Amino acid sequence: MASKLGLLFHFLVIATLMQFETVIVNGQPQVPFYFIFGDSLVDNGNNNRLSTAAKANYHPYGIDFPQGLTGRFTNGLTVADIIGQLLGFSDFIPPYANTTNQDITRGVNYGSGAAGIRDETGSNLGGRISLNRQLVNHATIVSRLLLLQRNITFTNEYKKKCIYIVNMGSNDYINNYFMPNDYPTSRIYTPDQYAVVLIQKYSLQLRTLYRLGARKIAVFGLGFIGCAPAEIAMFGTNGDCVESINSATQLFNDRLKPLIDDLNNAFSDARFTFINISSISAPQEGVVLSNVPCCPIRSDGQCIPNSIPCPDRNLRVWYDGFHPTEVANRALASRSYIALSPMDASPYDISRLAQL
Ligand SMILES: *[C@@H]1O[C@H](CO)[C@@H](O)[C@H](O)[C@H]1NC(C)=O
Ligand SMILES: *[C@@H]1O[C@H](CO)[C@@H](O)[C@H](O)[C@H]1NC(C)=O
Ligand SMILES: *[C@@H]1O[C@H](CO)[C@@H](O)[C@H](O)[C@H]1NC(C)=O
Repeated sequence: MASKLGLLFHFLVIATLMQFETVIVNGQPQVPFYFIFGDSLVDNGNNNRLSTAAKANYHPYGIDFPQGLTGRFTNGLTVADIIGQLLGFSDFIPPYANTTNQDITRGVNYGSGAAGIRDETGSNLGGRISLNRQLVNHATIVSRLLLLQRNITFTNEYKKKCIYIVNMGSNDYINNYFMPNDYPTSRIYTPDQYAVVLIQKYSLQLRTLYRLGARKIAVFGLGFIGCAPAEIAMFGTNGDCVESINSATQLFNDRLKPLIDDLNNAFSDARFTFINISSISAPQEGVVLSNVPCCPIRSDGQCIPNSIPCPDRNLRVWYDGFHPTEVANRALASRSYIALSPMDASPYDISRLAQL
């Protein structure tokens, strides 16, 4: 009966701590650049000019963001924004869609709502920038950097010190496997086979990132997508999490950590790490949270344009039917940055990754 995201007490404590931390982190960032790959959990406006339903550049998104509407799929900061602040970046990393030569001074955010590991993922909603495409975009940025810095040794050294985060895979389930009317994948593969083919593809993509110079790479596992209010509504589970989705994504997570170990073994000069979102957002004994999204949602799970969101946004986990509120993002980001349990991040949390 209960929803399975019992995080609230946690969030409040951590959100308070984080505000303090954000204030005291000042001066130079800990790493020269910060590159962000992923989906709507990190997108900061790359989809705005695409023809897709998966964009969030309308009210009430951004209601708590300093610059208002940007295309972020939440009320305020994304998990990528908060990790950036913890790393000491005083400005937000610009979206790839906006980068000019002068902009490449602290990093680029390639994230795109509805995008996936598989190229076709998210096409039910319209345009999106798949992970393969994000890597092509990164190759463009790397060559621009070479031109700007005019010293290949320097650029290569530079890229090794940067932090890269990759948050992909949710849409390969939500906007692919679990949409049998739009995609054939669930007829071709069992959940276990699907996890295998996704991980094989992801492995190639992470190797490409390595070949483009990345050496400090944090890869995010999948959360309890079956507990997203939009999925609960779609599957009519009467408030319960959709177990078929959670067990399928668990198969992906189970294979992701061994992939990270393989990559670390294959590339001795690289540091890949697994961020365990299941651990970070695990249900807590005795804590039962409302699964009610903060904004009124339309059938695809996003906020109804110009609707009035809830006033108690610091007490909610979900802003719309799929996306966490800023306060939930703070909890995710803070435990990715400084793990509270050895399960949260392995072998390193992001603060350690930055120092290595
Ligand atoms: C990106 O460019 C658009 C259009 O010029 C502008 O409205 C938006 O503020 C820019 N976003 C960022 C983060 O610079
Ligand atoms: C290129 O960068 C390397 C590493 O920072 C430095 O040692 C070297 O002097 C630079 N070369 C030139 C021509 O500036
Ligand atoms: C991730 O967290 C879950 C839930 O706490 C745990 O069962 C699993 O073993 C963790 N995975 C890794 C690789 O640490």
